[in-house]
Amino acid sequence: MVKIAVVGCTGKLGGMIIKEAAARPDIEVVYAIARSGNRYVGHGMAELIGGHSDLIIIDGIEQAKDCDVFIDCTNAAAFIEHNCERYRRAGKPVVIATTAFSEEDMDKIRKMATETPVFLTGNFSVALHDFIETLRFAVRRVSNDTDIQIVEYHHNEKHDAPSGTAIMIRDALTQANGRLTAEDIDICSVRGGNIFGEHEVIFANCKDEVVTFKHSVSSREPFVQGALDVMVWIVKQKNGLYTMDDFCE
Ligand SMILES: NC(=O)c1ccc[n+]([C@@H]2O[C@H](COP(=O)([O-])OP(=O)(O)OC[C@H]3O[C@@H](n4cnc5c(N)ncnc54)[C@H](OP(=O)(O)O)[C@@H]3O)[C@@H](O)[C@H]2O)c1
Repeated sequence: MVKIAVVGCTGKLGGMIIKEAAARPDIEVVYAIARSGNRYVGHGMAELIGGHSDLIIIDGIEQAKDCDVFIDCTNAAAFIEHNCERYRRAGKPVVIATTAFSEEDMDKIRKMATETPVFLTGNFSVALHDFIETLRFAVRRVSNDTDIQIVEYHHNEKHDAPSGTAIMIRDALTQANGRLTAEDIDICSVRGGNIFGEHEVIFANCKDEVVTFKHSVSSREPFVQGALDVMVWIVKQKNGLYTMDDFCE
């Protein structure tokens, strides 16, 4: 049984991870952690997600002594300015669901990973990982006159644009085809309604051909199940920075 602590439990992703973990025989949620000052601190998690959870929401990562792994579902500023150092002191594996880190933030995450196992991904879906593998294959074969565009769609409450997944896709494309740089691939971000997430990659050449690849989700379920599987996996790893490439190997 892997004992997990969910940081950002009052948010959409954190709340759903706690809800879905209840059905997993291999996982127990032992801490639900909110931002200090959030109005749900001290309340029961069941008030937020329903069901029979008897977890009481706390506001301190340092109080979470008896867990095997943390998952951070907050935002980049909260992670870097408040949570990162507390995880380092806790000395437990950390799964980072949070997105939109700068290069400077990444240096801190890489440093943290020298002391503990750290998992970072903008998308926990295994199908999305396989979608990117397909794109890596396709982009190696495109002609020099092919323009590449990424269009991503998300709900209207998403704070960051472009999405972490769109950046992952662009990085994979430039790594797979040395002719391309990030500047060659535009990302168009659409925000609206309750779209859970869609990523479209368009290869348009000047010989009247367009090839389009698309991945979409209609709920957060694929992210949540992927995140739960990753937590069970990361507790068995050595110190280092891991991604979905390592998990899906
Ligand atoms: N990797 C993936 O597959 C994946 C999938 C979906 C989302 N995401 C990413 O996950 C993050 C969360 O997404 P979301 O949709 O759940 O956002 P959200 O609904 O805005 O939730 C974020 C939560 O974090 C809380 N928070 C902020 N600072 C905190 C702190 N220092 N300690 C504890 N909690 C804190 C916020 O509480 P307050 O309201 O009190 O500030 C809020 O409830 C985003 O970065 C998003 O891009 C990743």
